[in-house]
Amino acid sequence: MNAPHTSGLVQAKGTLTEPGYMPGWANDFETEALPDALPRGMNSPQKCNYGLYGEQLSGTAFTANPPERTWCYRIRPSVKHSARYARIDLPYWKSAPHIPEDLTSLGQYRWDPVPHSDEPLTWLTGMRTMTTAGDVNTQVGMASHIYLVTESMKDAYFFSADSELLVVPQEGRLRFATELGIIDIEPKEIAIIPRGLVYRVEVLDGPCRGFVCENYGQKFELPGRGPIGANCMANPRDFKAPVAAFEDREVPSTLTVKWCGQFHETKIGQSPLDVVAWHGNYAPYKYDLRNYCPVGAILFDHPDPSIFTVLTAPSGVPGTANIDFVLFRERWMVAENTFRPPWYHKNIMSELMGNIYGQYDAKPQGFVPGGMSLHNMMLPHGPDREAFEKASNANLGPDKLDRTMSFMFETRFPQHLTEFAGKEAPLQDDYIDCWESLEKKFDGTPGKK
Ligand SMILES: [Fe+2]
Repeated sequence: MNAPHTSGLVQAKGTLTEPGYMPGWANDFETEALPDALPRGMNSPQKCNYGLYGEQLSGTAFTANPPERTWCYRIRPSVKHSARYARIDLPYWKSAPHIPEDLTSLGQYRWDPVPHSDEPLTWLTGMRTMTTAGDVNTQVGMASHIYLVTESMKDAYFFSADSELLVVPQEGRLRFATELGIIDIEPKEIAIIPRGLVYRVEVLDGPCRGFVCENYGQKFELPGRGPIGANCMANPRDFKAPVAAFEDREVPSTLTVKWCGQFHETKIGQSPLDVVAWHGNYAPYKYDLRNYCPVGAILFDHPDPSIFTVLTAPSGVPGTANIDFVLFRERWMVAENTFRPPWYHKNIMSELMGNIYGQYDAKPQGFVPGGMSLHNMMLPHGPDREAFEKASNANLGPDKLDRTMSFMFETRFPQHLTEFAGKEAPLQDDYIDCWESLEKKFDGTPGKK
């Protein structure tokens, strides 16, 4: 709105955000797909405009501080999108606790990209669980998945009561048509789909492959910045929530629900994506990883990788996240007299990595786009021989790490392999050998390097 003014002040018009989205992390958004569909000044009027039903979706207990909830104004209340449930089986989507007796998760593991299947696969049938951690029933821990999707869900909808989903595409473009609006994502972007939100996944450009972190615990939040202060890393303005979008479509449809690790299906007569207007702070988001502003060493040594945390899902113990989502992207390396790749380490946290594109600096070979690795609780790892020799002998000057984007799902809980990860996925038998040729250099001679 540009009201007439006489003061000489020039008002901004509109927003810089691409059409269809609203900027800001955890804002109290308001949006309506039809004029005056959103009640003004109150949540629950005696009668809603257009004959809509008012309904609240809560993502936290009511008295959480701050509470996270969204008021929806919809064609039918959700009880009309929920009939009797029948148990169904999605054999490749596993939930913790899931510890196969004949597999060991003690070891350093790495996988080539999981190839696409000849079989048409949707978001539900194409989900392949790689690891699980914690316990879905007590809402702690996580699962990591690869998705292979070639087909859109047709008159089919889904929600997970178990988890929030962090989606990291590696190939292809997907559309999440959700109750609260539409999110389109492609590689180098991520989407966060909250617990309980109903959606349908469509293929915009396939085949699609990517990674999913299924968070059973407390919601993802922006990490504390400590002495870094207010700027850099993931800036709140770069997270985008969708504007309201609805469909009034009466066709036989199915809604699948993930609940305590089980899958249930219910048959309904219409699309549940019927929210005409909403306001609140419990919403799906997308974020472009190219907006992540890394902070690092500018003289010598380098900080812990926590400096690259995009999002964190806290556990009950401060400093020991249920999940950290960490990004290793393009950046300048300038530290003097420093071994610049990640150092050798072992860690109480369990680290699952995926490569989105390019080459990762600690592993020049073998960790390719679409591939994954797992370094579980207290298992040693670090640069391979090639990376060690190169970094130890390089003439150090400003050096751009270019064309690289990998990530880590790190959790305080041990991650257990699924049968798929251990037996069907392309596990590299020789990964452990990447450290085989590291040689003893010590012979007692002082000053030797
Ligand atoms: Fe590590």
